[in-house]
Amino acid sequence: MKEQVVCKTTELEPGEMKAANLGKQNVLVCRTLDGKFYAFLNQCNHQGAPLDKGMICGATTDKSKPGDYHYCRKGEIIRCPWHGREFDIKDEGRMLANPSKKLPSYKVRVEDEDVIVYK
Ligand code: FES
Repeated sequence: MKEQVVCKTTELEPGEMKAANLGKQNVLVCRTLDGKFYAFLNQCNHQGAPLDKGMICGATTDKSKPGDYHYCRKGEIIRCPWHGREFDIKDEGRMLANPSKKLPSYKVRVEDEDVIVYK
């Protein structure tokens, strides 16, 4: 697959995501709080929701006592807008609840201010 500039770095603040076109495919470009860019197919693997309508958030960890949850990984999780499936941006789009499943992902590189996505 050919590579393509999908947006400028200035179009996405850390912690934001947006939809973009890569040829005929709709991709989700995400920027984590450390400033890195990631790209996935913009379609939930459950019932196909457009993930750009969801949110980037964090996750909770269970600290073993009932009700003792801690918020962590802020800005590293995509949450689907329809039924709440969560995907790990920094781990190839793996589902938090079922890590054997993941979103199709793309490679990303930045040149000057161009965010370039490719397979
Ligand atoms: S469509 Fe994404 S969780 Fe159902």
